Amino acid sequence: MSASPSRPLIAGDPTVGPSVCFATCAPGLEPVLHRELQALRMPKVERQVGGVRFTGGPADWMRANLWLRTAGRVLLRLTRYEAHGSEALYAGALECEWERWLRPGGTVRVDAQSKDSDLDHTRFVEQRIKDAIVDRVTRRGAPRPQVVGEEAHLRVHAHVYRNRVTLSLDSSGAALRKRGWRYAQGQAPLSETLAAAMVQLSGWNGKAPLVDPFCGSGTLLVEGALWATNTAPGLLRDRFGFMAWPGFSAKLWERERKAAEAARRPLGKTRLVGLDHRPERIAEAQANLTAAGFSSTDLQVLDARAWAGKPGWNAQILTNPPYGVRVGEEAKMLGLYEQLGQHWKAVAQGYGLTLIAPVELLPAFGLAWEQQVPVKNGALECAIVSTQLPESESAAPPA
Ligand SMILES: C[S@@+](CC[C@H](N)C(=O)[O-])C[C@H]1O[C@@H](n2cnc3c(N)ncnc32)[C@H](O)[C@@H]1O
Repeated sequence: MSASPSRPLIAGDPTVGPSVCFATCAPGLEPVLHRELQALRMPKVERQVGGVRFTGGPADWMRANLWLRTAGRVLLRLTRYEAHGSEALYAGALECEWERWLRPGGTVRVDAQSKDSDLDHTRFVEQRIKDAIVDRVTRRGAPRPQVVGEEAHLRVHAHVYRNRVTLSLDSSGAALRKRGWRYAQGQAPLSETLAAAMVQLSGWNGKAPLVDPFCGSGTLLVEGALWATNTAPGLLRDRFGFMAWPGFSAKLWERERKAAEAARRPLGKTRLVGLDHRPERIAEAQANLTAAGFSSTDLQVLDARAWAGKPGWNAQILTNPPYGVRVGEEAKMLGLYEQLGQHWKAVAQGYGLTLIAPVELLPAFGLAWEQQVPVKNGALECAIVSTQLPESESAAPPA
């Protein structure tokens, strides 16, 4: 058994150099996240499975937390070592200078993932790392840290792959999809990160009307509006994990926040159109849009199949239709999807269309998808698909 921890990088102290950072994302979204990190001009951006790696100092990872739309969290690597068993796992974790990131009386949480390794019991891995953290800080005279959930002052991420352990600080704390605007939960809301990926994959220009005919709690409309106004999705959130670290520089954070405030653009004349056949969902969408700082006069209680569209609008439809996950509902959904495909061909000619739906239901729309990105929505195998709805034959140029 071996433990050969490299010296931890000092990630929590803004006066020191860069860390190896890893922004996690749902499988399938790596290319979108990669583009986001490139647009933020992060150094050494490299696509991996389940996320994107980059190198950055505190200003970089603060900015990543503030701006990334499709990332789950931003992890900062502390150490990497080999461990086949409990002792090596513990010894490697004991070497980390946890006291740098935990104030006396602070709380701890460890989350572990393991694949193709002797240490395959994630609960056990979490426990041993917690033991090492507690032992390390108590030996240095600090009170025994309590182990808590979501709100822990120090969140540690352990990744074990082929017996190599990577310990990282979770700089985000609560998942980044928790933006701070969700006032109403709705029923089966789409994750904010998936919605943000759909906005980006759609290629919407942020100016044409955005239409969600199954808007539910309004996730796609809010994420669309955040995108169109160049609003950093983290601006509405008041807490990130790194704020609890002893080395946290409030001044640096304020600078990043102010820069993000200054980068916002007004929504201008861009229309946000939301439909849902349930009045309570429309009320929720309104509440969420308002909480995010937007308003729409185009929210309507309406069956999606009754929506008339507007000729020449060149709108972008962005939607998450119902899936009918309950037994016996699939046939009903196939019927609905077929009707929608027909309806959009009739009333939304020339519009862009991007939606997320279970892979096996996609053919029912009767549309030729130009782009198809497989993703999981909860436990369901889905795909984000896009196409341009055909122009009317009369409007088409002569052959
Ligand atoms: C999967 S949910 C959408 C969730 C939404 N993306 C969110 O984040 O909250 C589907 C929505 O479609 C609505 N719906 C179902 N059938 C409809 C129909 N025929 N016309 C309009 N809305 C419908 C439901 O009320 C539900 O809010």
